[in-house]
Amino acid sequence: MEKVNIIGAGLAGLSAAISLAENNIASRLISVQPSERAQSVLAAGGINGALNTMGEDDSTENHMEDTLRAGVYIADPEAVRGMTKAAPGIITDMHRIGVPFNISDGKIIQRNFGGQKKKRTAYAKSSTGKMLMTALIDEARKYEINGLIERYPHHELAKILIKNTESGKRECTGVTVADTYNRRQHTLAGKTILAFGGMNGLFPGITTGTTANSGEAAAIAFSAGIRFSNLEMIQYHPTTIGIAGKRCLISEAARGEGGRLFVTRDGKPWYFMEEKYPELGNLMPRDVVSREIWFVLHDPTCGDQVYLDMSHLSKEIWRDRLPDLRKEVMHYLGIDPAKKPVPVDPAIHYFMGGIDVDICHRTNIAGLYAAGECCSQYHGANRLGGNSTLGAIYGGRAAARDLAETLTTAKENQGNTENFDGQGSAEVERPGAEAVLAIGEILKESLGIVRDGEEMENGLEKLKRLEPAANESEKRRLNLAEAILLSALYRKESRGAHYRRDYPEKNDAYRGLVTAEMTKDGIQIGNMAAGEQ
Ligand code: FUM
Repeated sequence: MEKVNIIGAGLAGLSAAISLAENNIASRLISVQPSERAQSVLAAGGINGALNTMGEDDSTENHMEDTLRAGVYIADPEAVRGMTKAAPGIITDMHRIGVPFNISDGKIIQRNFGGQKKKRTAYAKSSTGKMLMTALIDEARKYEINGLIERYPHHELAKILIKNTESGKRECTGVTVADTYNRRQHTLAGKTILAFGGMNGLFPGITTGTTANSGEAAAIAFSAGIRFSNLEMIQYHPTTIGIAGKRCLISEAARGEGGRLFVTRDGKPWYFMEEKYPELGNLMPRDVVSREIWFVLHDPTCGDQVYLDMSHLSKEIWRDRLPDLRKEVMHYLGIDPAKKPVPVDPAIHYFMGGIDVDICHRTNIAGLYAAGECCSQYHGANRLGGNSTLGAIYGGRAAARDLAETLTTAKENQGNTENFDGQGSAEVERPGAEAVLAIGEILKESLGIVRDGEEMENGLEKLKRLEPAANESEKRRLNLAEAILLSALYRKESRGAHYRRDYPEKNDAYRGLVTAEMTKDGIQIGNMAAGEQ
């Protein structure tokens, strides 16, 4: 039986592996870090699904509409419909396998989260990601015993193997991965699901995500000719604090439970979100809140720091709903948020764009799938908090479902038993630290909360100047970085997380995906309707 390669062992990878195993299909779960240290573990606030346990007459249609609206209508409605419809069942499944969601009267409680009109986010205190991952890791162990899931932590993607078929199509035949300790490389035949998470390493120091998500796998995928879309859609989370070398998330749950943002003006706190947006106030979608923070910080009549005030929250909320968040703020800032406002700043939190996939999570290369944050699906121009955990689990399952159908009907299912046997030990080239920082600095300057065509053109020029001295892996990173800037320049409008000073209005000529693809003629940028392939 052919084994499926899964690159990444977070929520999407684990969910895919478990779904395949349930269909009696074996997979290799290959990841730089073990699941226990995946980015998904850091997800704090919760997972969305219209369980309708809060007496608010919620429905999966409401969830779908909120998701599409927050994404400013460029996500594929059919894909979003599938995800939101499945969401209550996914939460119930997670509860069944042991996720300790907060419960009252035997029902899963749901909290407010940004951009949603109903309480729809199920949570396990303020460590939902950790709890989801713990339960899924345990579930995966059931299948490790009989070999249906094999884990390969501390292995990184070195190459995606693609062949041209007789019919002129490109097909993924496997991957080459390298052991991060002994550098030994392994060539692994088989269909492959990419689930390697976001491109945090392209923006060193300013993301909430794990620095282990170096961006290298995305750069390899892009340079291999895999089509990406909406690369310009990068989410800034409004509330983060600085810790060594990265940003620490102050979960939106804090505002969901009543936390208030303010800046000083005329010597008094100004609760700008509440004044400007009376309906949702502090819980407007993240693109709006981050932008408003940027605006007040550039307003000479306002102070130069925004604060999150949670000092009025009850003892019960701190104990039952936000205990870890309080501990983190005390640990990193030495401030007790139950007593004093916390200084916060926006930072990069999520990449809505990534590998372009269809509704079944197939990429433009046959036999190659993508799921979780590394792919572009569901979130459009701006993601709702609580939809990433959901999208990762749902996407991993969707890819596995499609693969299971293909593998159980195809003749090729017989006989491919290539093993994980070291095939040489060539050094895998990696980008140098200096190049990583230089590229990161350029991207950071050009792709802020407020963007501008001239600044982005300058950024592109600076990237091009780095090309002559770049090694192969630095070239791949430059390709991806240039594709992001070219995508941002192509979209001459403001929509969701992509706000351009020189094109401040939405323009429905761009109501679709901006695609980026590496071809023999260089990077091609184009557009496509969502749902098209
Ligand atoms: O703020 C948060 O808890 C983040 C959640 C998410 O990005 O889904």
